[in-house]
Amino acid sequence: MNYEAQNARYVARVEEGLRALLPEAQAAWETGKIPEGLCQSMRYSLLAGGKRVRPVLMLATADMLHVDPQEALCPACAIEMIHTYSLIHDDLPGMDDDDLRRGKPTNHKVYGVGAAILAGDGLLNFAFECMLQNALRYPQHLQGHVRAIEAIAVRAGVTGMIAGQSIDLLYEHRQMDEAALSYVHQHKTADLLTAPLLAAACIAEADEHIMHALEAFGHSIGMAFQIQDDLLDIEGDAASLGKATGMDAERGKMTWPALYGVQRAHAMADALWTQAIASLEEFGDRAAYLRAFVQNLRARRA
Ligand code: IPE
Ligand code: IPE
Ligand code: MG
Ligand code: MG
Ligand code: MG
Repeated sequence: MNYEAQNARYVARVEEGLRALLPEAQAAWETGKIPEGLCQSMRYSLLAGGKRVRPVLMLATADMLHVDPQEALCPACAIEMIHTYSLIHDDLPGMDDDDLRRGKPTNHKVYGVGAAILAGDGLLNFAFECMLQNALRYPQHLQGHVRAIEAIAVRAGVTGMIAGQSIDLLYEHRQMDEAALSYVHQHKTADLLTAPLLAAACIAEADEHIMHALEAFGHSIGMAFQIQDDLLDIEGDAASLGKATGMDAERGKMTWPALYGVQRAHAMADALWTQAIASLEEFGDRAAYLRAFVQNLRARRA
């Protein structure tokens, strides 16, 4: 199967998985007692059509490591829920104060700030409910699933994405040095891109060596992804990106282009994408899809 067909298959599997986990508001109320308004606001952002980078990374890594695709689908979808919650909260007036996300008005613009906070909280908590229930369905791999959930919790948590977001916020309108900026990018972005790789490896009960290779891969794509996001905020087109541009300068965000200029930021991103491909070397042909995925991500303008 060629890359495009495989990618479309992964994305479709994620979309189906998300809809199965979080059904329409009325059904969610009737079957799971999620209040309709809460479910609607969670679905509004979750099903707005993001790129699905993180869950696709998990499904592809699971395939590479011979994990049953059905077993990996739920944690992959849960990571997308956690990512979506991070975006809803990132857009709030107390944070980046953005009006447009995934081509639609941001969650708080539609449902109000209080409801948006709860939609984010809801997605975060629901993600862990789903993953724990999934783990219990596979008693023969329980330890691997618990390790996967731990890896996700740590990368999303107070030493991971939340740590990065907290320093990002602290340094608005203040000068940052390279070490601080690397810290922010590693945690706010690279950690949530590493989580799906490690989660797949945990379920596969992969050895330390594979964990380290995937960690290195996640670091490189994560850092490159955030530098690219910062460059697209300067050079990209809001309609294709589905979010406003020029916001980092307006909010006084410290970014790589702000610290070193656009040209050097491009060079750094290029070096990181190349490094990402190199870190897949030991997987040989089995990493063909992941290599093509990196090349596509690297070329993206939307
Ligand atoms: C946006 O993530 C936040 C960053 C870490 C830069 P994505 O660019 O993956 O956003 P979606 O999921 O496609 O909307
Ligand atoms: C956000 O980084 C990373 C998150 C953890 C949500 P940005 O603030 O640059 O992401 P965008 O540009 O709003 O998508
Ligand atoms: Mg932000
Ligand atoms: Mg933002
Ligand atoms: Mg950004």
